[in-house]
Amino acid sequence: MLRAMRILTGLQPSGKLHVGNYFGAMEPAVRLQEQGEAFYFIADYHAMTTMQDPAALRENVRELAIDFLACGLDPKRAVFFRQSAVPEVNELAWILSTVCPMSLLSKCHSYKDKIAQGIAPNHGLFAYPVLMAADILLYDSNQVPVGKDQKQHLEVTRDLAVKLNDVYGEGTVILPEPIIREDTAVVIGLDGRKMSKSYHNTLPIFGDEKPLRKTLMRIVTDSTPVEEPKPVENSTILALFKLFASDADYQTLLADHQRGGTGYGDFKKRLADAYWDFFAPMRARRAEILADPGYVDQVLAGGAARAREEAAKVLGRVRRAVGLI
Ligand code: ADP
Ligand code: TRP
Repeated sequence: MLRAMRILTGLQPSGKLHVGNYFGAMEPAVRLQEQGEAFYFIADYHAMTTMQDPAALRENVRELAIDFLACGLDPKRAVFFRQSAVPEVNELAWILSTVCPMSLLSKCHSYKDKIAQGIAPNHGLFAYPVLMAADILLYDSNQVPVGKDQKQHLEVTRDLAVKLNDVYGEGTVILPEPIIREDTAVVIGLDGRKMSKSYHNTLPIFGDEKPLRKTLMRIVTDSTPVEEPKPVENSTILALFKLFASDADYQTLLADHQRGGTGYGDFKKRLADAYWDFFAPMRARRAEILADPGYVDQVLAGGAARAREEAAKVLGRVRRAVGLI
């Protein structure tokens, strides 16, 4: 029987979600859940390669689960689970590692970048792409939507799938297709660079109103006097406003920049209003989720059970192919 297209992606639990994560990862994932059978998981094993604080890991996993659900992940449509709730993934990672040349991993940019940032080169960090390949192949995934930074990891995944099939026979694992989100969707941070935790220029999605509005007031602007027209090229205020406002409101803000006579303080206030309104439904949903303490655990347990069922099938097939059974 032909089954629905399986779309799989993982998100690392790495702290408070920001607007860049929302438009770059969550919103596309929420949209894609309509188009096939979505498998979305929280990559907690991967997080351990750079974060070794048990309380923070627990907290971040929970926060990400709550935030993803608040942003529209529908557990009736998507299978939503914690990576570590399906420990079978480690066995597949081991099997893949036996066909993985060292040279394939030593050329990975993300490994080299992390070492350059001063992170200790542990084996987990080195083997990260093999575990990621296992994440993908364990569920016979067809499509894997990721940001550009993960492109090379998807190439490693496909290389490993081809190798495993070469050694143990076609159909041992299924070759996935990457869906790479290109740079067009890069969300700009408060200082005009790409919004990123590492640049400390993020605008969180959730939080208390006062400090969040204050954060928006920190947007870096030039010193054009109030009465003069304001530059519209590379304007952080306009770029962010476009994400949150209707086209008509965007055109008004644009015209007010070009006309002059309005100060940046006023523009920032309009931006803060639009931002606050945009996330209002997600904030309301988040409050509902928080009011039901068992809900998140129940969703993740249901997702894990469903994911394990699938993992058992695929791992059984692979174990047979390689001669473990
Ligand atoms: P950060 O740069 O803050 O560490 P991550 O690397 O954890 O963010 O990103 C998690 C996901 O969010 C990735 O899929 C990434 O492509 C997306 N993302 C992060 N920042 C942005 C941004 N500024 N614009 C668009 N997408 C982003
Ligand atoms: N490495 C991905 C990231 O940092 C997260 C991830 C782990 C993932 N396993 C995956 C993404 C499998 C897609 C498929 O964003």
